[in-house]
Amino acid sequence: PFEVELARTGTTVTVTPQLSVLEAARRAGATTLSSCEQGVCGTCETTVLAGVPDHRDTLLADHERAAGDCMFPCVSRSCTDRLVLDL
Ligand code: FES
Repeated sequence: PFEVELARTGTTVTVTPQLSVLEAARRAGATTLSSCEQGVCGTCETTVLAGVPDHRDTLLADHERAAGDCMFPCVSRSCTDRLVLDL
């Protein structure tokens, strides 16, 4: 598990293996839109403010992956114990 902080509200949620970051964020009140929920459409794109995302989408180019400043929370997870998202 890892933690995700929703920067706009200051809420922190724990993301267990059974939950997507998107689902965990929604349970904490985030209203992020989504469509495919498979990391292919880009609808759920979210800005990463801190932490290192574990990208599992098929959208980002290598340099975008390395930059780590945005992620697709329907599929992507975290390499760090904590992610801070602009949600
Ligand atoms: Fe399609 Fe996340 S909902 S990439």
